[in-house]
Amino acid sequence: MSSKDKVLEFLENNKDTYTSGAAMANALGLSRNAIWKAINELRKNGYSIDAISNKGYMLASGNDILSAAGILSYLKPTAKALYSNQTDLIRIYDTINSTNRIAKELAITGAAHGTLIISSEQTEGRGRRDHSFYSPKGGLYMSILLRPEHLKTLVPDEITTATGGSVCSAINELTGLTPYIKPINDLFIDKKKICGILTEAGTEFETGDVQWIVVGIGINFDSDINSFPTDIKEIAASIFAPGASTVTKNQLAAEIINQLLAQKIF
Ligand code: BTN
Repeated sequence: MSSKDKVLEFLENNKDTYTSGAAMANALGLSRNAIWKAINELRKNGYSIDAISNKGYMLASGNDILSAAGILSYLKPTAKALYSNQTDLIRIYDTINSTNRIAKELAITGAAHGTLIISSEQTEGRGRRDHSFYSPKGGLYMSILLRPEHLKTLVPDEITTATGGSVCSAINELTGLTPYIKPINDLFIDKKKICGILTEAGTEFETGDVQWIVVGIGINFDSDINSFPTDIKEIAASIFAPGASTVTKNQLAAEIINQLLAQKIF
Protein backbone atom coordinates (compact mmCIF):
# COMPACT_ATOMS: atom_id res chain seq x y z
CA MET A 1 0.00 0.00 0.00
CA SER A 2 1.39 3.46 -0.90
CA SER A 3 2.13 6.05 1.80
CA LYS A 4 -0.75 8.12 0.44
CA ASP A 5 -3.18 5.20 0.83
CA LYS A 6 -1.87 4.47 4.33
CA VAL A 7 -2.39 8.08 5.39
CA LEU A 8 -5.87 8.14 3.82
CA GLU A 9 -6.79 4.93 5.63
CA PHE A 10 -5.54 6.42 8.90
CA LEU A 11 -7.51 9.65 8.37
CA GLU A 12 -10.66 7.71 7.42
CA ASN A 13 -10.36 5.59 10.56
CA ASN A 14 -9.86 8.65 12.76
CA LYS A 15 -12.44 10.99 11.27
CA ASP A 16 -13.26 12.82 14.48
CA THR A 17 -9.79 13.45 15.88
CA TYR A 18 -6.85 15.57 14.92
CA THR A 19 -3.58 13.62 14.75
CA SER A 20 -0.18 15.25 14.61
CA GLY A 21 2.20 14.44 11.76
CA ALA A 22 4.58 12.91 14.29
CA ALA A 23 1.92 10.63 15.82
CA MET A 24 0.75 9.55 12.37
CA ALA A 25 4.34 8.90 11.28
CA ASN A 26 4.83 6.79 14.38
CA ALA A 27 1.58 4.85 13.92
CA LEU A 28 2.25 4.13 10.25
CA GLY A 29 5.97 3.54 10.39
CA LEU A 30 6.62 6.41 7.97
CA SER A 31 8.80 9.52 8.16
CA ARG A 32 7.20 12.88 8.97
CA ASN A 33 8.26 14.03 5.53
CA ALA A 34 6.41 11.10 3.95
CA ILE A 35 3.27 12.07 5.92
CA TRP A 36 3.56 15.69 4.78
CA LYS A 37 3.99 14.58 1.15
CA ALA A 38 1.04 12.20 1.38
CA ILE A 39 -1.19 14.92 2.86
CA ASN A 40 -0.24 17.23 -0.03
CA GLU A 41 -0.92 14.51 -2.57
CA LEU A 42 -4.32 13.80 -1.04
CA ARG A 43 -5.15 17.50 -1.18
CA LYS A 44 -4.14 17.55 -4.85
CA ASN A 45 -6.51 14.62 -5.37
CA GLY A 46 -9.36 16.75 -4.02
CA TYR A 47 -9.45 15.80 -0.35
CA SER A 48 -10.12 18.60 2.06
CA ILE A 49 -7.90 18.03 5.11
CA ASP A 50 -8.07 20.37 8.09
CA ALA A 51 -4.76 21.24 9.75
CA ILE A 52 -4.36 23.01 13.08
CA SER A 53 -0.93 23.77 14.50
CA ASN A 54 -0.18 21.80 17.69
CA LYS A 55 -3.14 19.49 16.94
CA GLY A 56 -2.42 18.05 13.50
CA TYR A 57 -4.55 16.80 10.65
CA MET A 58 -8.14 15.60 10.27
CA LEU A 59 -10.30 14.83 7.23
CA ALA A 60 -12.79 17.66 6.76
CA SER A 61 -16.40 16.51 6.97
CA GLY A 62 -17.51 17.38 3.41
CA ASN A 63 -15.26 14.94 1.52
CA ASP A 64 -17.16 12.65 -0.81
CA ILE A 65 -14.49 10.86 -2.78
CA LEU A 66 -14.90 7.14 -3.31
CA SER A 67 -11.98 5.13 -1.93
CA ALA A 68 -11.29 1.64 -0.63
CA ALA A 69 -10.06 3.15 2.65
CA GLY A 70 -13.24 5.22 3.00
CA ILE A 71 -15.47 2.19 2.39
CA LEU A 72 -13.45 -0.01 4.76
CA SER A 73 -13.86 2.52 7.56
CA TYR A 74 -17.66 2.01 7.49
CA LEU A 75 -17.72 -1.79 7.20
CA LYS A 76 -19.16 -3.84 10.06
CA PRO A 77 -17.19 -6.84 11.41
CA THR A 78 -18.48 -9.51 8.97
CA ALA A 79 -17.72 -7.37 5.95
CA LYS A 80 -14.51 -6.03 7.45
CA ALA A 81 -13.30 -9.60 7.91
CA LEU A 82 -13.77 -10.21 4.19
CA TYR A 83 -12.08 -7.04 2.97
CA SER A 84 -9.57 -5.75 5.50
CA ASN A 85 -6.64 -7.96 4.55
CA GLN A 86 -7.38 -7.88 0.86
CA THR A 87 -7.70 -4.23 -0.14
CA ASP A 88 -7.29 -5.19 -3.82
CA LEU A 89 -10.77 -6.70 -3.54
CA ILE A 90 -12.12 -3.15 -3.71
CA ARG A 91 -11.41 -1.37 -6.99
CA ILE A 92 -12.51 2.22 -7.44
CA TYR A 93 -12.78 4.13 -10.72
CA ASP A 94 -13.75 7.70 -11.62
CA THR A 95 -15.13 6.51 -14.90
CA ILE A 96 -15.34 3.10 -16.51
CA ASN A 97 -17.27 1.42 -19.32
CA SER A 98 -19.36 -0.84 -17.05
CA THR A 99 -18.65 -2.13 -13.56
CA ASN A 100 -20.44 -5.38 -14.45
CA ARG A 101 -18.21 -5.83 -17.48
CA ILE A 102 -15.02 -5.38 -15.44
CA ALA A 103 -16.34 -7.67 -12.69
CA LYS A 104 -17.14 -10.35 -15.28
CA GLU A 105 -13.68 -10.08 -16.84
CA LEU A 106 -12.16 -10.43 -13.37
CA ALA A 107 -14.48 -13.36 -12.59
CA ILE A 108 -13.22 -15.23 -15.63
CA THR A 109 -9.61 -14.61 -14.64
CA GLY A 110 -10.21 -16.02 -11.14
CA ALA A 111 -10.88 -12.98 -8.92
CA ALA A 112 -12.04 -13.77 -5.41
CA HIS A 113 -15.53 -13.86 -3.90
CA GLY A 114 -16.49 -10.36 -2.79
CA THR A 115 -14.47 -8.47 -5.41
CA LEU A 116 -16.07 -5.07 -5.63
CA ILE A 117 -15.91 -2.71 -8.61
CA ILE A 118 -17.19 0.80 -8.00
CA SER A 119 -17.33 3.79 -10.31
CA SER A 120 -18.64 7.35 -10.20
CA GLU A 121 -19.61 7.18 -13.86
CA GLN A 122 -20.13 4.54 -16.57
CA THR A 123 -19.77 5.17 -20.29
CA GLU A 124 -21.44 1.90 -21.34
CA GLY A 125 -23.66 1.04 -18.36
CA ARG A 126 -25.82 -1.99 -19.05
CA GLY A 127 -29.34 -2.76 -17.95
CA ARG A 128 -31.50 -5.85 -18.17
CA ARG A 129 -32.37 -7.36 -21.55
CA ASP A 130 -29.33 -5.72 -23.14
CA HIS A 131 -30.68 -2.22 -22.61
CA SER A 132 -28.24 0.55 -21.81
CA PHE A 133 -28.24 2.09 -18.35
CA TYR A 134 -27.69 5.84 -18.29
CA SER A 135 -24.83 6.33 -15.82
CA PRO A 136 -23.64 9.94 -15.51
CA LYS A 137 -21.66 11.42 -12.63
CA GLY A 138 -23.81 11.82 -9.54
CA GLY A 139 -24.60 8.12 -9.50
CA LEU A 140 -23.10 5.24 -7.57
CA TYR A 141 -22.38 2.26 -9.79
CA MET A 142 -21.13 -0.92 -8.20
CA SER A 143 -20.75 -4.61 -8.97
CA ILE A 144 -19.94 -7.41 -6.58
CA LEU A 145 -18.56 -10.75 -7.64
CA LEU A 146 -20.01 -13.74 -5.78
CA ARG A 147 -18.62 -17.27 -5.89
CA PRO A 148 -21.21 -20.12 -5.55
CA GLU A 149 -19.26 -21.94 -2.82
CA HIS A 150 -19.91 -18.96 -0.52
CA LEU A 151 -23.68 -18.92 -1.13
CA LYS A 152 -26.48 -20.99 0.39
CA THR A 153 -28.62 -20.56 -2.72
CA LEU A 154 -28.09 -20.18 -6.42
CA VAL A 155 -31.72 -19.35 -7.11
CA PRO A 156 -31.56 -16.12 -9.15
CA ASP A 157 -34.74 -14.68 -7.58
CA GLU A 158 -33.36 -15.14 -4.07
CA ILE A 159 -30.07 -13.44 -4.93
CA THR A 160 -31.72 -10.49 -6.66
CA THR A 161 -34.31 -10.12 -3.89
CA ALA A 162 -31.57 -10.21 -1.25
CA THR A 163 -29.71 -7.52 -3.17
CA GLY A 164 -32.76 -5.29 -3.61
CA GLY A 165 -33.64 -5.70 0.06
CA SER A 166 -30.08 -4.83 1.07
CA VAL A 167 -30.03 -1.64 -0.99
CA CYS A 168 -33.45 -0.61 0.41
CA SER A 169 -32.27 -1.25 3.99
CA ALA A 170 -28.99 0.59 3.43
CA ILE A 171 -30.74 3.67 2.05
CA ASN A 172 -33.32 3.56 4.83
CA GLU A 173 -30.68 3.13 7.53
CA LEU A 174 -28.65 6.12 6.32
CA THR A 175 -31.36 8.52 5.18
CA GLY A 176 -34.69 7.49 6.71
CA LEU A 177 -36.15 7.27 3.17
CA THR A 178 -38.22 4.18 2.38
CA PRO A 179 -37.43 2.79 -1.07
CA TYR A 180 -39.43 -0.21 -2.22
CA ILE A 181 -38.76 -2.99 -4.71
CA LYS A 182 -40.73 -3.08 -7.92
CA PRO A 183 -40.25 -6.49 -9.56
CA ILE A 184 -38.04 -7.71 -10.98
CA ASN A 185 -35.56 -5.59 -9.18
CA ASP A 186 -35.95 -1.88 -9.60
CA LEU A 187 -36.01 0.31 -6.53
CA PHE A 188 -38.46 3.16 -6.36
CA ILE A 189 -39.14 6.11 -4.10
CA ASP A 190 -42.51 7.82 -4.55
CA LYS A 191 -43.17 6.03 -7.85
CA LYS A 192 -39.82 7.09 -9.39
CA LYS A 193 -36.93 4.73 -10.10
CA ILE A 194 -33.81 5.44 -8.07
CA CYS A 195 -31.92 2.19 -8.65
CA GLY A 196 -31.64 -0.69 -11.10
CA ILE A 197 -30.05 -4.06 -10.46
CA LEU A 198 -28.58 -6.42 -13.03
CA THR A 199 -27.47 -9.90 -11.96
CA GLU A 200 -25.40 -11.93 -14.39
CA ALA A 201 -23.74 -15.34 -14.10
CA GLY A 202 -21.28 -17.60 -15.86
CA THR A 203 -21.91 -21.35 -16.08
CA GLU A 204 -20.01 -24.37 -17.30
CA PHE A 205 -22.05 -25.32 -20.36
CA GLU A 206 -21.87 -29.13 -20.06
CA THR A 207 -22.74 -29.39 -16.39
CA GLY A 208 -24.72 -26.18 -15.94
CA ASP A 209 -22.59 -25.48 -12.86
CA VAL A 210 -22.60 -21.81 -11.89
CA GLN A 211 -19.02 -20.53 -11.73
CA TRP A 212 -19.59 -16.91 -10.82
CA ILE A 213 -22.33 -14.39 -10.23
CA VAL A 214 -21.98 -10.63 -10.71
CA VAL A 215 -24.55 -8.40 -9.05
CA GLY A 216 -24.58 -4.86 -10.49
CA ILE A 217 -26.28 -2.00 -8.69
CA GLY A 218 -26.82 1.44 -10.23
CA ILE A 219 -28.11 4.16 -7.91
CA ASN A 220 -29.03 7.76 -8.68
CA PHE A 221 -27.23 9.19 -5.65
CA ASP A 222 -27.13 12.99 -6.07
CA SER A 223 -27.79 12.94 -9.79
CA ASP A 224 -28.98 15.93 -11.76
CA ILE A 225 -32.19 14.33 -13.01
CA ASN A 226 -33.07 17.48 -15.02
CA SER A 227 -30.10 16.78 -17.29
CA PHE A 228 -31.21 13.17 -17.98
CA PRO A 229 -32.64 12.28 -21.41
CA THR A 230 -36.34 13.17 -21.53
CA ASP A 231 -37.68 9.61 -21.51
CA ILE A 232 -35.64 8.70 -18.38
CA LYS A 233 -36.18 12.03 -16.63
CA GLU A 234 -39.91 11.37 -16.42
CA ILE A 235 -39.54 8.09 -14.56
CA ALA A 236 -36.33 8.59 -12.54
CA ALA A 237 -35.46 10.23 -9.24
CA SER A 238 -32.33 10.63 -7.19
CA ILE A 239 -31.83 9.98 -3.48
CA PHE A 240 -30.40 13.47 -3.01
CA ALA A 241 -30.48 16.67 -5.02
CA PRO A 242 -27.12 17.45 -6.68
CA GLY A 243 -24.54 18.42 -4.04
CA ALA A 244 -27.07 18.02 -1.22
CA SER A 245 -26.21 14.55 0.07
CA THR A 246 -26.20 14.06 3.82
CA VAL A 247 -24.09 10.88 3.60
CA THR A 248 -21.13 9.98 1.41
CA LYS A 249 -20.97 7.47 -1.40
CA ASN A 250 -18.41 5.55 0.66
CA GLN A 251 -20.98 5.26 3.46
CA LEU A 252 -23.73 4.05 1.15
CA ALA A 253 -21.50 1.55 -0.68
CA ALA A 254 -20.26 0.18 2.66
CA GLU A 255 -23.77 -0.08 4.12
CA ILE A 256 -24.99 -1.96 1.05
CA ILE A 257 -22.16 -4.46 1.54
CA ASN A 258 -22.92 -4.67 5.28
CA GLN A 259 -26.59 -5.37 4.60
CA LEU A 260 -25.86 -7.82 1.77
CA LEU A 261 -23.42 -9.92 3.81
CA ALA A 262 -25.98 -10.09 6.64
CA GLN A 263 -28.51 -11.77 4.32
CA LYS A 264 -29.36 -15.43 4.76
CA ILE A 265 -28.10 -16.29 1.26
CA PHE A 266 -24.55 -16.20 2.72
C1 BTN B 1 -31.82 -2.08 -15.11
O1 BTN B 1 -32.42 -1.13 -14.59
O2 BTN B 1 -32.19 -2.62 -16.16
C2 BTN B 1 -30.61 -2.63 -14.39
C3 BTN B 1 -29.54 -1.61 -14.35
C4 BTN B 1 -28.28 -2.08 -13.66
C5 BTN B 1 -27.21 -1.02 -13.70
C6 BTN B 1 -26.00 -1.40 -12.93
S1 BTN B 1 -24.93 -0.03 -12.68
C7 BTN B 1 -23.68 -1.06 -12.11
C8 BTN B 1 -23.69 -2.27 -13.00
N1 BTN B 1 -22.91 -2.04 -14.20
C9 BTN B 1 -23.67 -2.05 -15.31
O3 BTN B 1 -23.24 -1.87 -16.46
N2 BTN B 1 -24.93 -2.30 -14.98
C10 BTN B 1 -25.10 -2.47 -13.55
